[in-house]
Amino acid sequence: MNTRSRVRAGAVAVAFALLAAGCTGSGSGGGVKGTPGAAGLRDPYFPKLGNSGYDVSHYALTLSYDPATGRLDGRAEITAKATQDLSAFNLDFVGLTVRGATVDGRPAAVNRAGNELTLRPRAEIEDGAEFRATVTYDGVPQKITDSDGSEEGWLKTADGALALGEPTGSTAWFPGNHHPSDKATYDIAVTVPAGVKAFSNGVLSSEKKTADGRGTSVWHVAEPMASYLATLAIGRFDTTTTTALGGKVPVVTAVDPVVAAGAAALRARIPELLEWETENFGPYPFAAAGAIVERDGDAGYALETQTRPVFPGSSFDTSTLVHEMAHQWYGDSVSPATWKDMWLNESFATYAEWLYAEDFEHTPAQKSFEKAFANDAAWAFPPAEPPKAEDLFGTPVYQRGAMVLHRIRQEVGDDTFYEILAGWPAEHRHGNATTKDFTEYVESVAGRDLSGLWDVWLYGDGKPARPTA
Ligand code: ARG
Ligand code: ZN
Repeated sequence: MNTRSRVRAGAVAVAFALLAAGCTGSGSGGGVKGTPGAAGLRDPYFPKLGNSGYDVSHYALTLSYDPATGRLDGRAEITAKATQDLSAFNLDFVGLTVRGATVDGRPAAVNRAGNELTLRPRAEIEDGAEFRATVTYDGVPQKITDSDGSEEGWLKTADGALALGEPTGSTAWFPGNHHPSDKATYDIAVTVPAGVKAFSNGVLSSEKKTADGRGTSVWHVAEPMASYLATLAIGRFDTTTTTALGGKVPVVTAVDPVVAAGAAALRARIPELLEWETENFGPYPFAAAGAIVERDGDAGYALETQTRPVFPGSSFDTSTLVHEMAHQWYGDSVSPATWKDMWLNESFATYAEWLYAEDFEHTPAQKSFEKAFANDAAWAFPPAEPPKAEDLFGTPVYQRGAMVLHRIRQEVGDDTFYEILAGWPAEHRHGNATTKDFTEYVESVAGRDLSGLWDVWLYGDGKPARPTA
């Protein structure tokens, strides 16, 4: 599944440049017309992330993990459709050892270079053809330290492991097209030893004991998911299952027993908060909800993993829960087209905190705006243009991003603003969107040009004059 409009435009430009240079690729006649898919989608921050030449529709991951040795045994079955005649294609994959690969049931040649895994099938794949690739692998998966110093990928925890993937960490536990523009459905089957459990995204579709006492849980994600939102939490958990939204959505929570007492009251409020967010943001986009709460040392920050966000115990507070749940609409259902569009995630999730304070704590969003406006760190760079990868999670992306939304509210008034809040995720439900999609959408709902607002608040350098609201 793919809506990588901006990225594809880049690929077209390259193809055009090659043609203009008189290069026609690797031959024409006979059966040899396919070329290898490119090893990256030219994301502004992670140019090698993702791969071109195909579109993944489904991942079926069959994993087994042993916390005692730290070893993961995996098999990924990837269903995809070729978007060109393909002689070979790449997957993003970090660490681990590949034991074998097939394409449509026949062994494929495997090559690895850095974070790129190349599969060359026996026969070329024709443009438009659906194909199935399998990769079997094992080893001790890696932790990835991002340029901003935060840790993602595969994290060992006190009693198991935790997989976090924003922006690139999912490359550490399964091979795939790990750019947010290629969203897919998932089935994640995880086998773990007796005494521990495995939680992932979506609906628990089956749970079995194996003959040797181990347990297998299968998690089904029916809606498209960007790979950075996949998670896996293995360990001892205190779990609850309830429903929300008129009994339609199962709410599964898994909390480390060490932090369970402190998390109890807030955990019980998830259905009520889902109700409130649905009233403001529109229909809940997924078939399941919940939360995973770990010890502080196990996770360094909260993350909006699809349907089931992850929290360190001390961050499991009301505003962080409201924030990560809001991401289910903004970020998870409507995902960024490239990592440059990241502010579209964090602005709305931060604004959800401001709205919660307004509705439940007698703090008008205007107050939150003024506090953000007074924060020097918010003005380091324009939210739609983080200078480097390490700035993607910087204060401007969150605080100045939310200020952009508040400025829209001031310009268009509450009725139109709330129409935009729910209309934007409806417009791009389960898809991807660019910053330009957003500004055009807002202008179309507002019925007028707002380029002055974008120039100053979204793209402008430095702190503007204080708006007179
Ligand atoms: N998106 C997360 C949030 O809800 C933060 C992730 C931080 N990750 C990182 N690599 N710095 O705000
Ligand atoms: Zn966030």
